[in-house]
Amino acid sequence: MQQIEERDYTQRFSLTLWKKLLRYAREYYKDLVRLMLVMGVTAACDVVFPLLTSYAIDHFVPNLDRPGGTEGLPLFIAVYVLVLAVQVISIYRFLYLGGKIEVGVCYTIRKQAFRKLQELPFSYYDRMPVGYLMSRMTSDTQRLGETIGWSLLDLAWGAVMIVASSVTMFLLNWKITLIVLLVVPPLALVSWVFQQKILRAYRTVRKTNSRITGAFNEGIMGAKTTKTLVLEDKNAVEFTELTHEMKRSSVRAASLSAAFLPIVVALGSVATAYALWKGGQEVLIGGMTLGVLQVFINYTVQFFEPIRNIAGVFSEMQSAQAAAERVVTLLETEPDIVDTPEVEAEYGDNFHPKKENWPALRGDVEFRHVDFRYKEGEQVLTDFNLKINAGETVALVGPTGAGKSTVVNLICRFYEPTKGEILIDGVNYKERSQLWLQSSLGYVLQEPRLFSGTVRDNIRYGRLDASDEEVERAAQLVNAERFILKMKKGYDTDVGEGGSRLSTGEKQLISFARAILADPRIFVLDEATSSVDTQTEQIIQQAIQKVLSGRTSFIIAHRLSTVRTADRILVIDGGRIQEMGTHQELIRKKGAYYKLYTNQFREESTMDVLGKAEETPA
Ligand SMILES: Nc1ncnc2c1ncn2[C@@H]1O[C@H](COP(=O)(O)OP(=O)(O)O)[C@@H](O)[C@H]1O
Ligand SMILES: [Mg+2]
Repeated sequence: MQQIEERDYTQRFSLTLWKKLLRYAREYYKDLVRLMLVMGVTAACDVVFPLLTSYAIDHFVPNLDRPGGTEGLPLFIAVYVLVLAVQVISIYRFLYLGGKIEVGVCYTIRKQAFRKLQELPFSYYDRMPVGYLMSRMTSDTQRLGETIGWSLLDLAWGAVMIVASSVTMFLLNWKITLIVLLVVPPLALVSWVFQQKILRAYRTVRKTNSRITGAFNEGIMGAKTTKTLVLEDKNAVEFTELTHEMKRSSVRAASLSAAFLPIVVALGSVATAYALWKGGQEVLIGGMTLGVLQVFINYTVQFFEPIRNIAGVFSEMQSAQAAAERVVTLLETEPDIVDTPEVEAEYGDNFHPKKENWPALRGDVEFRHVDFRYKEGEQVLTDFNLKINAGETVALVGPTGAGKSTVVNLICRFYEPTKGEILIDGVNYKERSQLWLQSSLGYVLQEPRLFSGTVRDNIRYGRLDASDEEVERAAQLVNAERFILKMKKGYDTDVGEGGSRLSTGEKQLISFARAILADPRIFVLDEATSSVDTQTEQIIQQAIQKVLSGRTSFIIAHRLSTVRTADRILVIDGGRIQEMGTHQELIRKKGAYYKLYTNQFREESTMDVLGKAEETPA
């Protein structure tokens, strides 16, 4: 599988990106506002506590011995307990709200991304490896939920703390406060610089880590090849280099983190020391009370915490920005194949089809001057023309890479022509909705896809309202029942994730049954019987003939013996129709088909002879 290198996201903090993302968190705006408020209350309590202590120091402590010196103490205690209670409640609320937002945002983004992935056409999945999409859907969305839930919380707390404690200090003693605040710019600068460095170091760690995982993957998946090619040494050297790199960057990241905290604490201590020194002098000459001095010391000690927090939040957001960007890109991907607004208005979209407006599909298919390429510069079809009447069975044969699958992909509208048009029942299929075509389409591909669930579920995907009898009849028709009943639970056997417990041949039979159950007007079989044995293939063949009568069908088969009865056989090579006709006509013509057929016939009979020879007991 192709690997997508983790991109470098070095750009600065991007406000537009976060705004876009916040739009996806729309449902949680109210909770976010509540969260900010609750955080403000929590921070305000943090600011109030030193003031209360100061009051106690100045009013109760010196007068303890005097009569009536503790007057008002019960009220004081009551106020203290009240503030404490408010803070406890607000802490409880912010933990609850933060968690709710984290989980909720993650859920909303996942839901939207999932919906988007459902809309995106086949071609999107050509470009994006499944592993890449999986991590977008899981770890990136998780990350964003955390960031939006908790970073904003830190931000609100830090802002309120800084503003409230500075203002309070100003009111108490503006001269000392001015000097103390001088330490803020260097503190902010150091925090910012360090967070950036730490961030970068951890990014390197992550990147190296994903390369190591990739190397593991290759090492394990390709172990056999490596062994036969004797590449162990080369692989080991590369791997060692990678792990060294990992160690270096991890140590760097750890050292940076270790150095950061002491530096911040030291800077904070300078401020505290200054406040203690100047404040102490003031206390001695009676310009300041002990309680106020205590407030200063408390605030200056606490001060660096929110600054560090805010610097941390910005780094966190910057590092989550990569995740944000990847997710937003996914959410904003415009599908290449879209129904025009007019089409949608008439026939409905994928989620709200207007079936009452759908014309019945007969099954005439026509290619008119169709050009097609998957990638710029690699033309696959050029001026391809073909007219098929409803009910015809058409076989496509030709070498690998000839363009057979491409032709049927275009018919299914998994891709659209880059030039020219494809007409279904005489109308360009772009003038009808995708769903209209696809709900009349049955296809069985070489690599059939099953879903987790039972055999019965998987067949029923063809038509969700089918009865058990109908499901079983479909299975019987393609001769799948034989192997299904051999399994322990028959139709109720679990097929495993993606059908992993079944062989490819069995999966093909089940997708066959599924396609038949759907009762489509157009049938596409792309090497659908390539993994079943010849005998089963013949049985399916007879079944196909029964089911296909009256439907337009396209059959791509490797074994030519299975396409003999087609109404028309197209020999395709290099994206062109080389020959066209019935089996008899093409054999008589003694051209490309004749050659293919006789070659294969000879091979097959040789194989048969060999096979028989092996079976003969010695
Ligand atoms: N998803 C794709 N992306 C890019 N190129 C493709 C893709 N699928 C097929 N091709 C190319 O298009 C050409 C025709 O392929 P295809 O239609 O699959 O041939 P066939 O089914 O006859 O073996 C080949 O050159 C192939 O490499
Ligand atoms: Mg193919």
